[in-house]
Amino acid sequence: MTGSLLVDNIGELVTNVAGEGEGGPLGIRHHAAVLVEAGRVAWIGPTRYAPAADRRIDAEGAAVLPGFVDSHAHLVFAGDRAAEFAARMSGQPYTGGGIRTTVGATRAASDDELRATVRRLRVEAMRQGTTTIEIKSGYGLTVADEARSLRIATEFTEETTFLGAHVVPAEYADRPDDYVGMVCGPMLAAAAPYARWIDVFCERGAFDVDHARAILACGQAVGLGVRLHANQLGPGPGVQLGVELGAASVDHCTHLTDADIEALASTATEDGGTATVATLLPGAEFSTRSPYPDARRLLDAGVTVALATDCNPGSSYTSSMPFCLALAVREMRMTPAEAVWAATAGGAAALRRDDIGRLRPGAPADLMILDAPSHLHLAYRPGVPLIRQVLHNGVPQCRP
Ligand code: NIG
Ligand code: FE
Repeated sequence: MTGSLLVDNIGELVTNVAGEGEGGPLGIRHHAAVLVEAGRVAWIGPTRYAPAADRRIDAEGAAVLPGFVDSHAHLVFAGDRAAEFAARMSGQPYTGGGIRTTVGATRAASDDELRATVRRLRVEAMRQGTTTIEIKSGYGLTVADEARSLRIATEFTEETTFLGAHVVPAEYADRPDDYVGMVCGPMLAAAAPYARWIDVFCERGAFDVDHARAILACGQAVGLGVRLHANQLGPGPGVQLGVELGAASVDHCTHLTDADIEALASTATEDGGTATVATLLPGAEFSTRSPYPDARRLLDAGVTVALATDCNPGSSYTSSMPFCLALAVREMRMTPAEAVWAATAGGAAALRRDDIGRLRPGAPADLMILDAPSHLHLAYRPGVPLIRQVLHNGVPQCRP
């Protein structure tokens, strides 16, 4: 779409540019307008001084926020595990064992079937305000199936993550060292051209700390950034391994010791955040009926926190960032403002991106217009479809 676009009559504009207007890190302006040119924010100011534009969207006093940055999602899969969810809700624990069920279904699916699922979930997420999404492999677990999962993921996002070390597949069950060798060798070689990141599920029953370190180091050696699944099902060494390797993010962080939090806090940077972000995934605790992580402990220690969906067919089959944000406020001791920041600028930090998650001149015009006067309503009105319109690179997306 060409030509300029003006979004005006914005009652409350969250910029995430600290020091702009009110609201501390949220940088809130009132009675604002945003001019979009060539897919980017060209100007932000008061509605009454807004320049003329080719087209106009009247926000009618509503709130406008940066698009959500969902920095953790597993969208390339086939089948679902609704029966496993029902069993959990009748008292069965979550162990991650169901991952192999999805691996079987994913291997049996055609490229077009996998692509259709990713497209469906990407559209679902966009309708709920997500303008950037990270997509992992991890349900193929053969050289060919991991490479095709990532190839399909690249059709939908630049933020692709190689998760060949999700679990040891059944055919390698009695020789995990051989599987790790394969992940670091031919699988990484086939996956790396399609991946920006490497990830490992570092957990009892998945990969131990030595295997995780070896795999992540191989990925780093070929230029992939590090992120990992850590401390989800119990305490463990994953978070501290992430800090040791300079990970952009350690994800889940459900079971943290004081030493884990100190390790994360030790990655403090000059901008007041931490180089390693703690990405919290409350959809997983919801769907596995597990205790939620305590975001307050992390925030009070100065650790940068991101919120993401973990969208996957096993532990968190939601693509909804508003749902995760509401859970974080209700269950994880985050304020509504902290949760909004974590779901936007926090996700950007977890992906080491400074171009997204904030609205300022030069940034991609990724934003959402709410059917509400304030960002507070995202947590205050849970389960309500509050996203009126989404712009991605300045282009209006389909309405819900
Ligand atoms: O992040 N924890 C590991 N991986 C996913 C769950 C995958 C599954 O159960 O299929 C997660 O929760
Ligand atoms: Fe995950």
